[in-house]
Amino acid sequence: MADADTLKAEILKAVAEAGDLDALEQVRIAALGRKGSLTEAMKGLGGLAPDERRAAGQALNAAKDAVAGAIEARKAALGRARLDSRLAAERVDVTLPARLRPAGTIHPISQVMDELQAIFADMGFTVAEGPDIEDDFHNFTALNIPEAHPARQMHDTFYLPPAADGRTMLLRTHTSPVQIRTMMATPPPHRIIAPGRTYRCDSDITHTPMFHQVEGLVIDRATHMGHLKGCLEDLCRTFFEVDDLPLRFRPSYFPFTEPSCEVDIGCSRADGELKIGAGEGWLEILGAGMVHPNVLVNCGLDPDHWQGFAFGMGVERVAMLKYGIPDLRTFFESDLRWLRHYGFACLDQPSLAYGLAR
Ligand code: DAH
Repeated sequence: MADADTLKAEILKAVAEAGDLDALEQVRIAALGRKGSLTEAMKGLGGLAPDERRAAGQALNAAKDAVAGAIEARKAALGRARLDSRLAAERVDVTLPARLRPAGTIHPISQVMDELQAIFADMGFTVAEGPDIEDDFHNFTALNIPEAHPARQMHDTFYLPPAADGRTMLLRTHTSPVQIRTMMATPPPHRIIAPGRTYRCDSDITHTPMFHQVEGLVIDRATHMGHLKGCLEDLCRTFFEVDDLPLRFRPSYFPFTEPSCEVDIGCSRADGELKIGAGEGWLEILGAGMVHPNVLVNCGLDPDHWQGFAFGMGVERVAMLKYGIPDLRTFFESDLRWLRHYGFACLDQPSLAYGLAR
């Protein structure tokens, strides 16, 4: 009996002294494992006389239960202690300032495109798209610019090497081919804008070989020049955020419109500073006109039943005017300092829900 009690006392002491879960596991193996002290003592029972064996067996079983219970309790306590120390060590300090990652900015071209789209969406326009690589028909012929037309020379076109089928493709010189694609793809009425990249073989202070335009097209039964004026007046006043912005419609010429006009907005240049609004000066910002009957016919529309207007504007130009960006070429230099200065935060994005107010 003394054996079982001594054994039990020794093991319980070792259990109490086990400082971590690994040490406790060693104690368990040394007592209850296959070669453990209690296991060995149980095996020894077989050599005793039957009456001694009973009492000794009971004592050993009681010792075993006590040891197993003590190990479980110690294990739970050590587990809790380990969790507590991890919680203390790995505590998150929510009061620390956040580590800011450098945020990019929205390029002024994207910003202005978004602003224009939001304004036109409010007027019921949808956005149409066309390919940057165009054919001669959509870029010129269908727009009433036949082969020998001098306007072709004015466009400084980038031509691609002739394709296998003999067709010569080109980089679109304006977004006007999207008018043609729209009218040929779906029946009227139409009310679309086509924002996108355009290309001309031209490079100096005021020209880059790639630039952006927004084209507009409205075709309906009785759309007239008054609608054109109202629409563009609304556009300019909303975009430049000047309620009484003066507009001037100046007669002009485009092969695809008749009559054609160019639209100027009022400005002043006091003390060398350009200000959009009433003043002594004018700035040309877009071309427009009533869609030429030949263009309608080229798209399969009967000019006796359908008519409308079109316009085209340079995105860089209006971006420079609105945001005071002096040099066109800087738009495409990817200079991070420039982008940080002239770029917009994502939260500045215009949307229909929030209007253009920033
Ligand atoms: N496509 C012309 C250009 O690139 C701009 C333009 C003028 C588009 C008048 C039009 C328009 O739709 O009616 O210079």
